[in-house]
Amino acid sequence: MDVNLRAGRPDDAAICGRICFEAFTAISTQHNFPPDWPSVEQAQTVLTALLARPGVRNVVAELDGQVVGSNFMAEIGRIGGIGPITVAPAVQNGAIGRRMMEHMLAVARERSLIGVRLVQAAFHGRSMSLYAKLGFTVREPLACMQGPPIGVRLPGCTVRPAARADLETGCALCVRVHGHERREELREAIEQGLATVVERDGRLTGYATVIGFWGHAVAASTDDLTALIAAAPAVLGAGILVPTRNGELFRWCLTHGLRVTQPLTLMSLGFYNEAAGAFLPSILF
Ligand SMILES: CC(C)(COP(=O)(O)OP(=O)(O)OC[C@H]1O[C@@H](n2cnc3c(N)ncnc32)[C@H](O)[C@@H]1OP(=O)(O)O)[C@@H](O)C(=O)NCCC(=O)NCCS
Repeated sequence: MDVNLRAGRPDDAAICGRICFEAFTAISTQHNFPPDWPSVEQAQTVLTALLARPGVRNVVAELDGQVVGSNFMAEIGRIGGIGPITVAPAVQNGAIGRRMMEHMLAVARERSLIGVRLVQAAFHGRSMSLYAKLGFTVREPLACMQGPPIGVRLPGCTVRPAARADLETGCALCVRVHGHERREELREAIEQGLATVVERDGRLTGYATVIGFWGHAVAASTDDLTALIAAAPAVLGAGILVPTRNGELFRWCLTHGLRVTQPLTLMSLGFYNEAAGAFLPSILF
């Protein structure tokens, strides 16, 4: 097969968005799971934004001159978050995904990133195998969970909107829990009025950029994290990604009305620390 990789252009969003929608819908339908994307248009809107966003690397694959796939990597501090990667269903399993992954890993090396991470659908044996062969290690089994707002206040915990003054404390907490910060995501969420923090005895003990698919949350303890989830007005997008090895957190979500929509896996290559606290990864990591 004559596969050519090139940089994405703004006008690739229409075809790459369509492929992204069709690739994810095909694999979900095959396994009887609900589709990840509600419509082609939404996939196209997200890919339009990713193709235009500084700090997000992209690659487009062409087969005999036709676009057949794309891959993205957001640089979050010195860690790369890969996704979405998609190959047109008709030409899957023909090494195009591998080529685009190898390309992104080479970009990560050129950019001196210390690690690369991703979240994959656990029922998808092909993507899990491909990433493992490329050097990724399974770090956390995740459950995507969705449900009505919980609307409970936890005793001793105060949840409030995050302010600019919370940025440094939030970053320091993230370093304590994960060994690295996610400054730009937190800064952006604060500026957009989406981020929340939890305080206990006057100390900041957790934050969430948003309670939902595209956001992440970090907390000193499971109680602090559940306080953030309990106070959220909605679970945005497809759901929150709950690390199920944290049995206390997983059971709390189940007993408070959230339901599992699909299993996923957090995988990493390079730098990774076992979390010293509670967390919800975003769909990137
Ligand atoms: C995941 C995806 C991008 C991979 O791209 P692809 O071109 O189909 O895959 P490739 O042919 O490059 O690689 C598949 C590899 O997995 C191996 N593989 C496939 N199924 C496997 C299985 N059940 N067990 C073990 N290995 C398996 C193949 O042999 C191949 O390995 P190789 O590179 O060593 O030969 C593509 O299938 C896709 O778009 N899927 C739907 C959307 C999706 O799930 N995206 C990923 C989100 S994280």
